[in-house]
Amino acid sequence: MKPRHFITLNDLSADELRGIIQRAIELKKMRAEGKVYEPLKNKVLAMIFEKSSTRTRISFESGMIQFGGSALFLSPRDTQLGRGESIRDSARVISRMVDGIMLRTNDHETVTTFAANSNVPVINGLTDRFHPCQLLADLQTWFEQRGDIKGKRVCWIGDGNNMCQSYMNAAKQLDFTLAIACPAGYEPERELLATTASHVELFNDPPLAANNADLIVTDVWASMGQEEEQKKRKKDFANFQVNSTLMALAKPDAMFMHCLPAHRGEEVSATVLDGKQSVIWDEAENRLHAQKALLEFLMK
Ligand code: CP
Ligand code: NVA
Repeated sequence: MKPRHFITLNDLSADELRGIIQRAIELKKMRAEGKVYEPLKNKVLAMIFEKSSTRTRISFESGMIQFGGSALFLSPRDTQLGRGESIRDSARVISRMVDGIMLRTNDHETVTTFAANSNVPVINGLTDRFHPCQLLADLQTWFEQRGDIKGKRVCWIGDGNNMCQSYMNAAKQLDFTLAIACPAGYEPERELLATTASHVELFNDPPLAANNADLIVTDVWASMGQEEEQKKRKKDFANFQVNSTLMALAKPDAMFMHCLPAHRGEEVSATVLDGKQSVIWDEAENRLHAQKALLEFLMK
């Protein structure tokens, strides 16, 4: 039987997605109550990181340990992947020895090729195009505080990057509106804009997008791998900071989210990031609970 993978949010149905979010909320409660629950005893998750990580690594590793299993941290530098062994061969070999594989890679295609050649579930832990695990945590954070997100207005400010594109998929899946404000030239992929057009509005002006929003989300101006563009991006994104003036255009009870790491004074002011409307610490913690729900769904 072919395993289920989680490469983008579109690998789950809307019902499955809602189920995983609700399960994440339950698992969070069970952990707070000190309940021991080990559905993945003796199971192993391999984690391949081509890029740095704090939250993704620690949440997957802790989640596996809490579930009675274990996780292997694999860097291409120390495996034959870094010496040119093909992705297909590596996927075939690794998937014969472990029960699940999580990858964080530069190219999205590395993850899709890996999944096509793996006998066990493959999870996208971030690529240049998508970061679906972060969306599970963001959605959990919304659902646990406000209920279903259907019909709400979410605003994305900044780069049309992997996080923005994951929000586009989420909008279509869970039936909310995503108003995006990007500087010209930093829009999301055209094809994705076309397939999500029913749920996405695109602006080049932050106030227009932020107007009446229930949730405002942003991310760094230069993602991992774009370090050399930092200077140019700082100029191009100068008017795209989420600050108190912009937050004031959203609904009075609007929440603010950021996947982190954040740069205070660049994409978000310290006042907003550390302010009352910000839910970034719950959002970060929920990586643990949401991914445990995902691991249980894919690997149990
Ligand atoms: N938000 C997120 O994925 O964080 P890390 O890069 O620290 O994993
Ligand atoms: N867009 C950012 C997200 C980091 C979690 C990046 O790709 O670096």
